[in-house]
Amino acid sequence: MPDRIARVAGLFDAVAPTYDQVGVDFFQPIAHHLVGLLDPRPGESVVELGCGRGALTLPLAEAVGTDGSVRACDISPAMVNLTSGLTADLRQVNVSLMNAAEPTYEPRSVDVVAASLVLFFLPDPPEALRRWVDLLVPGGRIGLTTFGAQDEVWSGLDELFDPYLPPDVLDARTTGKRGPFASDTAFEQLLTDSGAADVRSVTQPVTISLADSAAWQRWSMSVGQRMMWTFVPDDDLPGLLARADALLDGVPSLRQDVRHTLGRTPD
Ligand SMILES: C[S@@+](CC[C@H](N)C(=O)[O-])C[C@H]1O[C@@H](n2cnc3c(N)ncnc32)[C@H](O)[C@@H]1O
Repeated sequence: MPDRIARVAGLFDAVAPTYDQVGVDFFQPIAHHLVGLLDPRPGESVVELGCGRGALTLPLAEAVGTDGSVRACDISPAMVNLTSGLTADLRQVNVSLMNAAEPTYEPRSVDVVAASLVLFFLPDPPEALRRWVDLLVPGGRIGLTTFGAQDEVWSGLDELFDPYLPPDVLDARTTGKRGPFASDTAFEQLLTDSGAADVRSVTQPVTISLADSAAWQRWSMSVGQRMMWTFVPDDDLPGLLARADALLDGVPSLRQDVRHTLGRTPD
């Protein structure tokens, strides 16, 4: 496994026990919105890349029913174990350990491909996306969720890590400021270049509440941002947390837009 992918797998193994479990409603509303836009029908076959703890897997399984199928994968063994356990009673679901950069599902065999907050972790997103589109039958649908704009407080919190981060850290917040993740247009072009047609994006504003720096640290340690904390020297932690408290003081909620980008393969 390439080093970068192994690093991401290790990160999400560490994150898995608390991922989506710290009382912050973030991944579920995003997943339900994407599933609603993809509108999987009973009997359809779905591939889900980077399933995490099943935020999409469960609504996808419900939508396709027992006549359909949801094949979900993740690179983190801990995530795969958790989602396998969650879906053990759903015979239409199969969860496997797989690198989404090189999915081994049969090409042109799938009605719907879905991936929420995954593509930017891969070393070569355009190449991965070509492979994902290639999984679809003619007239199949693809839906991808990536990050959009965020409010000033959320940006300010993220920027607290900037002095510590090495340039090659694979994360949406760092790669997202330039390249294909930087705008709706750039991302739509990436999906079009991968072979999809009728490409469009829908923005969903997501708000969360974080009372103070302790709540922020707990939340961000439970998601991919956990990696950022590893770069902060112990001596700098009190100052960083004090700056976070100053940013969060009196702020009732923080807003992060997510971008759901949809396309289909020509008939
Ligand atoms: C931010 S989480 C999103 C999880 C889920 N889609 C959700 O919306 O809650 C990113 C997930 O992508 C997985 N992932 C990252 N790189 C991957 C790769 N190369 N192959 C498969 N899964 C990968 C991670 O292990 C993690 O579970």
